[in-house]
Amino acid sequence: MPPVDHVFLNRGLAATTPHPLGLEVSHAQGPWIHLTDETKLFDAVSGIGVTNFGHGNDVVLDQLRSQLEKHLHTMVYGEFLQKTQTEASALLCATLPKELDGIYFLNSGAEAIDGAIKLSRRVNGRTRLMAVSGSYHGNTIGSLSVSSNESRKAAYRPLLPEVEFLKWNDPSDLKRIDSTVACVIVETVQGDAGVRIPSKNWLQDLRAKCRETGALLVLDEIQCGMGRTGKPWAFEHFDIVPDILCMGKALGGGMAIGAMATSKARLSLFAHNPSLGHITTFGGHPMACAGAVGALKSMDKINFTQVERLNRMWQDALESHVAVRNVRRIGAFFAVEMESAEAVQKTIECGLKCASGTGVLLFYFLSVPHAFRLAPPLTCSEDEMATGLRLILQALDHVS
Ligand SMILES: Cc1ncc(COP(=O)(O)O)c(C=O)c1O
Repeated sequence: MPPVDHVFLNRGLAATTPHPLGLEVSHAQGPWIHLTDETKLFDAVSGIGVTNFGHGNDVVLDQLRSQLEKHLHTMVYGEFLQKTQTEASALLCATLPKELDGIYFLNSGAEAIDGAIKLSRRVNGRTRLMAVSGSYHGNTIGSLSVSSNESRKAAYRPLLPEVEFLKWNDPSDLKRIDSTVACVIVETVQGDAGVRIPSKNWLQDLRAKCRETGALLVLDEIQCGMGRTGKPWAFEHFDIVPDILCMGKALGGGMAIGAMATSKARLSLFAHNPSLGHITTFGGHPMACAGAVGALKSMDKINFTQVERLNRMWQDALESHVAVRNVRRIGAFFAVEMESAEAVQKTIECGLKCASGTGVLLFYFLSVPHAFRLAPPLTCSEDEMATGLRLILQALDHVS
Protein backbone atom coordinates (compact mmCIF):
# COMPACT_ATOMS: atom_id res chain seq x y z
CA MET A 1 0.00 0.00 0.00
CA PRO A 2 1.28 3.53 -0.81
CA PRO A 3 2.10 5.92 2.10
CA VAL A 4 -0.82 7.94 3.46
CA ASP A 5 1.08 11.17 4.13
CA HIS A 6 -0.63 13.11 1.37
CA VAL A 7 -2.13 16.59 1.15
CA PHE A 8 -5.56 15.19 0.16
CA LEU A 9 -5.62 11.92 2.13
CA ASN A 10 -4.49 13.80 5.25
CA ARG A 11 -7.74 15.76 4.98
CA GLY A 12 -9.81 12.63 4.35
CA LEU A 13 -10.10 13.31 0.61
CA ALA A 14 -9.39 10.92 -2.27
CA ALA A 15 -5.96 11.22 -3.82
CA THR A 16 -5.56 10.93 -7.58
CA THR A 17 -1.84 11.55 -7.99
CA PRO A 18 1.18 11.24 -5.68
CA HIS A 19 2.09 14.90 -6.30
CA PRO A 20 -1.04 17.06 -6.68
CA LEU A 21 -0.59 20.82 -7.06
CA GLY A 22 -2.31 21.12 -3.67
CA LEU A 23 -2.75 24.91 -4.00
CA GLU A 24 -5.52 26.37 -1.87
CA VAL A 25 -8.09 28.43 -3.75
CA SER A 26 -9.52 31.62 -2.31
CA HIS A 27 -11.61 32.96 -5.22
CA ALA A 28 -11.51 33.30 -9.01
CA GLN A 29 -12.45 36.05 -11.42
CA GLY A 30 -12.03 36.36 -15.20
CA PRO A 31 -8.83 34.50 -16.12
CA TRP A 32 -7.43 34.74 -12.55
CA ILE A 33 -7.44 32.15 -9.77
CA HIS A 34 -6.58 33.79 -6.42
CA LEU A 35 -4.95 31.61 -3.77
CA THR A 36 -5.25 31.85 -0.01
CA ASP A 37 -1.59 32.94 0.23
CA GLU A 38 -2.61 36.06 -1.74
CA THR A 39 -0.80 35.06 -4.91
CA LYS A 40 -2.74 34.78 -8.16
CA LEU A 41 -2.48 32.52 -11.20
CA PHE A 42 -3.47 33.25 -14.79
CA ASP A 43 -5.63 30.25 -15.70
CA ALA A 44 -4.20 29.29 -19.09
CA VAL A 45 -6.08 25.96 -19.15
CA SER A 46 -9.62 27.05 -18.13
CA GLY A 47 -9.84 24.28 -15.53
CA ILE A 48 -9.17 21.79 -18.39
CA GLY A 49 -11.66 23.21 -20.84
CA VAL A 50 -14.41 24.20 -18.41
CA THR A 51 -14.25 27.95 -17.74
CA ASN A 52 -14.33 28.91 -21.43
CA PHE A 53 -16.29 32.04 -20.48
CA GLY A 54 -14.09 33.03 -17.55
CA HIS A 55 -14.36 32.59 -13.80
CA GLY A 56 -17.14 34.50 -12.05
CA ASN A 57 -18.93 35.16 -15.35
CA ASP A 58 -21.80 37.58 -14.60
CA VAL A 59 -24.23 35.99 -17.04
CA VAL A 60 -23.67 32.55 -15.50
CA LEU A 61 -23.83 33.87 -11.93
CA ASP A 62 -27.09 35.74 -12.59
CA GLN A 63 -28.70 32.55 -13.90
CA LEU A 64 -27.46 30.58 -10.90
CA ARG A 65 -28.62 33.19 -8.36
CA SER A 66 -32.05 33.38 -9.88
CA GLN A 67 -32.47 29.57 -9.94
CA LEU A 68 -31.12 29.28 -6.39
CA GLU A 69 -34.06 31.33 -5.14
CA LYS A 70 -36.58 29.11 -6.93
CA HIS A 71 -35.72 25.47 -6.28
CA LEU A 72 -32.94 22.91 -6.19
CA HIS A 73 -33.61 19.20 -6.77
CA THR A 74 -37.29 18.31 -6.91
CA MET A 75 -37.55 14.95 -8.65
CA VAL A 76 -35.36 12.54 -10.64
CA TYR A 77 -34.74 13.43 -14.26
CA GLY A 78 -37.66 12.81 -16.62
CA GLU A 79 -40.63 13.26 -14.29
CA PHE A 80 -41.11 17.00 -13.70
CA LEU A 81 -40.80 19.72 -16.32
CA GLN A 82 -38.25 22.28 -15.15
CA LYS A 83 -37.79 25.68 -16.76
CA THR A 84 -33.98 25.70 -16.73
CA GLN A 85 -33.86 22.34 -18.56
CA THR A 86 -36.26 23.52 -21.25
CA GLU A 87 -34.45 26.82 -21.63
CA ALA A 88 -31.00 25.21 -21.78
CA SER A 89 -32.25 22.67 -24.32
CA ALA A 90 -33.76 25.38 -26.55
CA LEU A 91 -30.58 27.48 -26.43
CA LEU A 92 -28.42 24.43 -27.10
CA CYS A 93 -30.54 23.21 -30.03
CA ALA A 94 -30.33 26.70 -31.52
CA THR A 95 -26.55 26.21 -31.83
CA LEU A 96 -26.90 22.76 -33.46
CA PRO A 97 -28.00 21.45 -36.85
CA LYS A 98 -31.66 20.52 -37.14
CA GLU A 99 -30.84 16.76 -37.08
CA LEU A 100 -29.77 17.18 -33.44
CA ASP A 101 -33.08 18.29 -31.99
CA GLY A 102 -33.18 16.30 -28.74
CA ILE A 103 -31.03 16.77 -25.64
CA TYR A 104 -30.44 14.48 -22.66
CA PHE A 105 -28.78 16.41 -19.82
CA LEU A 106 -26.55 14.17 -17.69
CA ASN A 107 -24.02 14.51 -14.88
CA SER A 108 -20.65 14.29 -16.60
CA GLY A 109 -18.84 13.81 -19.87
CA ALA A 110 -18.18 10.15 -19.13
CA GLU A 111 -21.88 9.54 -18.49
CA ALA A 112 -22.67 11.13 -21.86
CA ILE A 113 -20.28 8.66 -23.53
CA ASP A 114 -21.85 5.72 -21.66
CA GLY A 115 -25.28 7.01 -22.67
CA ALA A 116 -24.20 7.29 -26.32
CA ILE A 117 -22.96 3.68 -26.28
CA LYS A 118 -26.25 2.49 -24.79
CA LEU A 119 -28.35 4.52 -27.20
CA SER A 120 -26.37 3.32 -30.25
CA ARG A 121 -26.99 -0.28 -29.26
CA ARG A 122 -30.71 0.48 -28.91
CA VAL A 123 -30.84 2.17 -32.32
CA ASN A 124 -29.34 -0.62 -34.40
CA GLY A 125 -29.32 -3.60 -32.05
CA ARG A 126 -25.61 -4.16 -32.61
CA THR A 127 -22.92 -4.70 -30.00
CA ARG A 128 -19.49 -3.94 -31.56
CA LEU A 129 -17.97 -0.58 -30.66
CA MET A 130 -15.23 1.28 -32.46
CA ALA A 131 -13.07 4.17 -31.30
CA VAL A 132 -9.76 5.54 -32.58
CA SER A 133 -6.14 5.48 -31.46
CA GLY A 134 -5.22 8.33 -29.11
CA SER A 135 -8.77 8.65 -27.79
CA TYR A 136 -9.74 9.84 -24.31
CA HIS A 137 -13.41 9.59 -23.40
CA GLY A 138 -13.48 9.45 -19.60
CA ASN A 139 -13.08 7.12 -16.65
CA THR A 140 -16.26 5.12 -16.13
CA ILE A 141 -15.92 1.50 -17.24
CA GLY A 142 -17.77 2.27 -20.49
CA SER A 143 -15.88 5.44 -21.41
CA LEU A 144 -12.53 3.92 -20.33
CA SER A 145 -13.22 0.92 -22.59
CA VAL A 146 -13.37 3.18 -25.65
CA SER A 147 -10.31 5.20 -24.58
CA SER A 148 -7.07 3.98 -26.09
CA ASN A 149 -4.28 4.56 -23.56
CA GLU A 150 -3.58 0.98 -22.44
CA SER A 151 -1.46 2.08 -19.46
CA ARG A 152 -4.58 3.67 -17.98
CA LYS A 153 -6.76 0.61 -18.65
CA ALA A 154 -4.69 -2.47 -17.81
CA ALA A 155 -5.34 -2.33 -14.05
CA TYR A 156 -9.11 -2.36 -14.59
CA ARG A 157 -9.58 -5.18 -17.08
CA PRO A 158 -11.84 -6.85 -17.97
CA LEU A 159 -13.48 -3.82 -19.54
CA LEU A 160 -16.27 -3.81 -22.15
CA PRO A 161 -15.89 -6.58 -24.75
CA GLU A 162 -16.10 -6.02 -28.51
CA VAL A 163 -14.22 -2.71 -28.59
CA GLU A 164 -11.80 -2.10 -31.45
CA PHE A 165 -9.62 0.87 -32.35
CA LEU A 166 -9.26 2.37 -35.80
CA LYS A 167 -6.06 4.19 -36.73
CA TRP A 168 -6.66 7.89 -36.18
CA ASN A 169 -6.81 9.93 -39.39
CA ASP A 170 -6.09 6.88 -41.59
CA PRO A 171 -8.62 6.58 -44.45
CA SER A 172 -7.46 3.06 -45.35
CA ASP A 173 -8.53 1.73 -41.94
CA LEU A 174 -12.16 2.84 -42.34
CA LYS A 175 -12.90 -0.32 -44.33
CA ARG A 176 -12.98 -2.17 -40.98
CA ILE A 177 -16.30 -0.46 -40.18
CA ASP A 178 -19.08 -2.79 -41.30
CA SER A 179 -22.75 -3.49 -40.65
CA THR A 180 -22.03 -5.22 -37.33
CA VAL A 181 -20.70 -2.00 -35.71
CA ALA A 182 -23.07 -0.19 -33.32
CA CYS A 183 -21.13 3.09 -33.29
CA VAL A 184 -17.82 4.75 -33.93
CA ILE A 185 -16.83 7.20 -31.18
CA VAL A 186 -14.37 9.96 -32.03
CA GLU A 187 -13.22 13.22 -30.45
CA THR A 188 -13.63 15.72 -33.29
CA VAL A 189 -10.33 17.24 -32.17
CA GLN A 190 -8.43 14.93 -29.84
CA GLY A 191 -7.59 16.57 -26.52
CA ASP A 192 -5.45 14.23 -24.47
CA ALA A 193 -3.57 12.97 -27.54
CA GLY A 194 -2.13 16.51 -27.72
CA VAL A 195 -4.69 18.57 -29.62
CA ARG A 196 -4.62 16.39 -32.74
CA ILE A 197 -6.62 17.95 -35.57
CA PRO A 198 -7.82 15.40 -38.15
CA SER A 199 -8.02 15.98 -41.88
CA LYS A 200 -11.38 17.08 -43.23
CA ASN A 201 -11.27 14.22 -45.75
CA TRP A 202 -10.87 11.58 -43.08
CA LEU A 203 -13.76 12.84 -40.97
CA GLN A 204 -15.96 13.17 -44.04
CA ASP A 205 -15.05 9.63 -45.18
CA LEU A 206 -15.77 8.37 -41.67
CA ARG A 207 -19.14 10.12 -41.78
CA ALA A 208 -19.93 8.50 -45.13
CA LYS A 209 -18.79 5.03 -44.02
CA CYS A 210 -20.97 5.18 -40.90
CA ARG A 211 -23.96 6.20 -43.01
CA GLU A 212 -23.28 3.38 -45.49
CA THR A 213 -23.01 0.68 -42.80
CA GLY A 214 -25.64 1.96 -40.35
CA ALA A 215 -23.05 2.48 -37.59
CA LEU A 216 -23.79 5.63 -35.59
CA LEU A 217 -21.18 8.37 -35.63
CA VAL A 218 -20.70 9.64 -32.07
CA LEU A 219 -18.63 12.80 -31.79
CA ASP A 220 -17.13 13.59 -28.40
CA GLU A 221 -16.96 17.38 -28.04
CA ILE A 222 -16.81 17.30 -24.26
CA GLN A 223 -13.50 19.16 -24.36
CA CYS A 224 -13.30 20.58 -27.89
CA GLY A 225 -16.88 21.92 -28.01
CA MET A 226 -18.44 25.13 -26.63
CA GLY A 227 -16.30 27.51 -28.67
CA ARG A 228 -12.93 26.02 -27.77
CA THR A 229 -11.82 25.50 -31.39
CA GLY A 230 -12.95 28.94 -32.59
CA LYS A 231 -16.46 27.89 -33.62
CA PRO A 232 -19.30 26.86 -31.30
CA TRP A 233 -18.81 23.16 -32.25
CA ALA A 234 -15.65 21.62 -33.66
CA PHE A 235 -17.56 19.53 -36.22
CA GLU A 236 -18.47 22.81 -37.96
CA HIS A 237 -14.85 23.00 -39.20
CA PHE A 238 -15.31 19.71 -41.05
CA ASP A 239 -18.79 20.13 -42.59
CA ILE A 240 -20.19 16.97 -41.01
CA VAL A 241 -23.03 16.30 -38.58
CA PRO A 242 -22.78 13.44 -36.05
CA ASP A 243 -25.63 11.09 -35.15
CA ILE A 244 -24.92 11.68 -31.47
CA LEU A 245 -22.97 14.60 -30.01
CA CYS A 246 -21.51 14.24 -26.50
CA MET A 247 -20.95 17.41 -24.51
CA GLY A 248 -19.87 18.43 -21.02
CA LYS A 249 -17.25 20.59 -19.31
CA ALA A 250 -17.80 24.22 -20.49
CA LEU A 251 -21.49 23.54 -21.18
CA GLY A 252 -22.27 23.99 -17.47
CA GLY A 253 -20.47 27.35 -17.13
CA GLY A 254 -18.61 25.84 -14.15
CA MET A 255 -21.41 23.58 -12.91
CA ALA A 256 -21.14 19.78 -13.26
CA ILE A 257 -22.87 18.64 -16.43
CA GLY A 258 -22.82 16.27 -19.38
CA ALA A 259 -25.21 16.01 -22.30
CA MET A 260 -26.06 14.07 -25.42
CA ALA A 261 -27.68 15.63 -28.48
CA THR A 262 -29.31 13.44 -31.12
CA SER A 263 -32.66 13.18 -32.90
CA LYS A 264 -35.86 13.12 -30.87
CA ALA A 265 -36.71 9.82 -32.57
CA ARG A 266 -33.53 8.16 -31.28
CA LEU A 267 -33.87 9.68 -27.81
CA SER A 268 -37.40 8.30 -27.53
CA LEU A 269 -35.97 4.77 -27.44
CA PHE A 270 -34.93 5.24 -23.82
CA ALA A 271 -38.61 5.44 -22.87
CA HIS A 272 -39.47 1.91 -24.10
CA ASN A 273 -38.36 -1.72 -23.80
CA PRO A 274 -37.25 -1.16 -21.11
CA SER A 275 -38.73 2.14 -20.10
CA LEU A 276 -36.28 4.11 -17.95
CA GLY A 277 -33.63 2.87 -20.40
CA HIS A 278 -31.14 5.38 -19.04
CA ILE A 279 -32.00 7.06 -15.78
CA THR A 280 -30.23 9.51 -13.54
CA THR A 281 -31.17 11.22 -10.30
CA PHE A 282 -29.25 14.42 -10.83
CA GLY A 283 -28.92 14.64 -14.64
CA GLY A 284 -30.46 17.94 -15.74
CA HIS A 285 -30.10 19.37 -12.24
CA PRO A 286 -31.72 22.83 -12.20
CA MET A 287 -28.50 24.54 -11.08
CA ALA A 288 -26.42 22.73 -13.73
CA CYS A 289 -28.95 23.70 -16.39
CA ALA A 290 -29.00 27.29 -15.12
CA GLY A 291 -25.20 27.22 -15.55
CA ALA A 292 -25.75 25.90 -19.10
CA VAL A 293 -28.18 28.72 -19.88
CA GLY A 294 -25.53 31.22 -18.73
CA ALA A 295 -22.76 29.45 -20.66
CA LEU A 296 -24.79 29.26 -23.88
CA LYS A 297 -25.78 32.93 -23.61
CA SER A 298 -22.10 33.76 -23.05
CA MET A 299 -21.00 31.70 -26.05
CA ASP A 300 -23.43 33.62 -28.19
CA LYS A 301 -21.56 36.84 -27.34
CA ILE A 302 -18.06 35.54 -28.10
CA ASN A 303 -16.19 37.45 -30.78
CA PHE A 304 -14.57 34.51 -32.58
CA THR A 305 -12.57 36.78 -34.89
CA GLN A 306 -10.91 38.33 -31.85
CA VAL A 307 -10.39 34.88 -30.26
CA GLU A 308 -8.55 33.79 -33.42
CA ARG A 309 -6.43 36.94 -33.56
CA LEU A 310 -5.37 36.80 -29.90
CA ASN A 311 -4.64 33.08 -29.90
CA ARG A 312 -2.72 33.43 -33.19
CA MET A 313 -0.58 35.99 -31.31
CA TRP A 314 0.10 33.37 -28.60
CA GLN A 315 0.98 30.78 -31.23
CA ASP A 316 3.42 33.09 -33.06
CA ALA A 317 5.18 34.05 -29.83
CA LEU A 318 5.37 30.45 -28.59
CA GLU A 319 6.69 29.17 -31.91
CA SER A 320 9.48 31.75 -31.74
CA HIS A 321 10.61 30.61 -28.29
CA VAL A 322 13.79 28.57 -28.28
CA ALA A 323 12.46 26.03 -25.74
CA VAL A 324 9.42 25.19 -27.89
CA ARG A 325 9.69 22.46 -30.54
CA ASN A 326 6.21 22.66 -32.06
CA VAL A 327 2.80 24.18 -31.44
CA ARG A 328 -0.48 22.60 -32.53
CA ARG A 329 -3.49 24.88 -32.27
CA ILE A 330 -7.07 25.22 -33.34
CA GLY A 331 -8.91 28.27 -31.98
CA ALA A 332 -7.95 28.58 -28.31
CA PHE A 333 -6.86 24.94 -27.94
CA PHE A 334 -3.09 24.32 -27.95
CA ALA A 335 -0.49 21.62 -27.44
CA VAL A 336 2.98 23.05 -26.91
CA GLU A 337 5.67 20.44 -27.54
CA MET A 338 9.05 20.70 -25.85
CA GLU A 339 12.25 18.68 -25.97
CA SER A 340 11.33 16.35 -23.10
CA ALA A 341 8.93 15.55 -20.29
CA GLU A 342 11.46 17.12 -17.88
CA ALA A 343 11.34 20.42 -19.78
CA VAL A 344 7.53 20.38 -19.54
CA GLN A 345 7.68 19.63 -15.83
CA LYS A 346 10.09 22.51 -15.24
CA THR A 347 8.01 24.95 -17.30
CA ILE A 348 4.83 24.12 -15.37
CA GLU A 349 6.67 24.46 -12.05
CA CYS A 350 8.22 27.79 -13.06
CA GLY A 351 4.80 29.03 -14.12
CA LEU A 352 3.50 28.38 -10.62
CA LYS A 353 6.47 30.04 -8.86
CA CYS A 354 4.70 33.38 -8.88
CA ALA A 355 7.43 36.01 -9.17
CA SER A 356 5.95 39.02 -7.35
CA GLY A 357 2.83 37.08 -6.46
CA THR A 358 1.63 36.40 -10.01
CA GLY A 359 2.02 33.10 -11.86
CA VAL A 360 0.43 31.07 -14.62
CA LEU A 361 -1.36 27.72 -14.49
CA LEU A 362 -0.17 25.44 -17.30
CA PHE A 363 -0.94 21.73 -17.31
CA TYR A 364 0.07 18.31 -18.60
CA PHE A 365 -1.53 15.88 -21.03
CA LEU A 366 -2.02 12.37 -19.62
CA SER A 367 -0.73 10.74 -22.80
CA VAL A 368 1.84 13.19 -24.23
CA PRO A 369 4.54 13.81 -21.61
CA HIS A 370 6.70 16.10 -23.80
CA ALA A 371 3.91 18.66 -24.32
CA PHE A 372 1.76 20.96 -22.18
CA ARG A 373 -1.75 22.15 -22.85
CA LEU A 374 -3.12 25.68 -23.20
CA ALA A 375 -6.80 26.58 -23.37
CA PRO A 376 -7.28 30.17 -22.15
CA PRO A 377 -10.77 31.57 -21.51
CA LEU A 378 -12.42 32.83 -24.70
CA THR A 379 -13.53 35.96 -22.87
CA CYS A 380 -9.99 37.29 -22.26
CA SER A 381 -9.37 40.88 -23.29
CA GLU A 382 -6.34 41.85 -25.36
CA ASP A 383 -4.54 43.02 -22.20
CA GLU A 384 -5.33 39.82 -20.31
CA MET A 385 -4.05 37.70 -23.20
CA ALA A 386 -0.87 39.81 -23.35
CA THR A 387 -0.35 39.31 -19.60
CA GLY A 388 -0.98 35.57 -19.86
CA LEU A 389 1.47 35.24 -22.72
CA ARG A 390 4.15 37.20 -20.86
CA LEU A 391 3.82 34.83 -17.89
CA ILE A 392 4.04 31.74 -20.12
CA LEU A 393 7.12 33.07 -21.92
CA GLN A 394 8.75 33.86 -18.56
CA ALA A 395 8.18 30.27 -17.46
CA LEU A 396 9.68 29.00 -20.74
CA ASP A 397 12.69 31.30 -20.31
CA HIS A 398 13.71 29.32 -17.23
CA VAL A 399 14.03 26.17 -19.32
CA SER A 400 15.97 27.50 -22.31
C1 LIG B 1 -12.67 14.44 -24.74
C2 LIG B 1 -13.19 14.06 -23.39
N1 LIG B 1 -14.18 13.17 -23.30
C3 LIG B 1 -14.70 12.80 -22.12
C4 LIG B 1 -14.21 13.31 -20.94
C5 LIG B 1 -14.80 12.89 -19.62
O1 LIG B 1 -15.52 13.94 -19.05
P1 LIG B 1 -15.78 13.94 -17.47
O2 LIG B 1 -14.45 14.11 -16.82
O3 LIG B 1 -16.74 15.06 -17.26
O4 LIG B 1 -16.40 12.61 -17.15
C6 LIG B 1 -13.16 14.24 -20.98
C7 LIG B 1 -12.57 14.78 -19.74
O5 LIG B 1 -11.49 15.30 -19.71
C8 LIG B 1 -12.63 14.62 -22.24
O6 LIG B 1 -11.62 15.48 -22.34
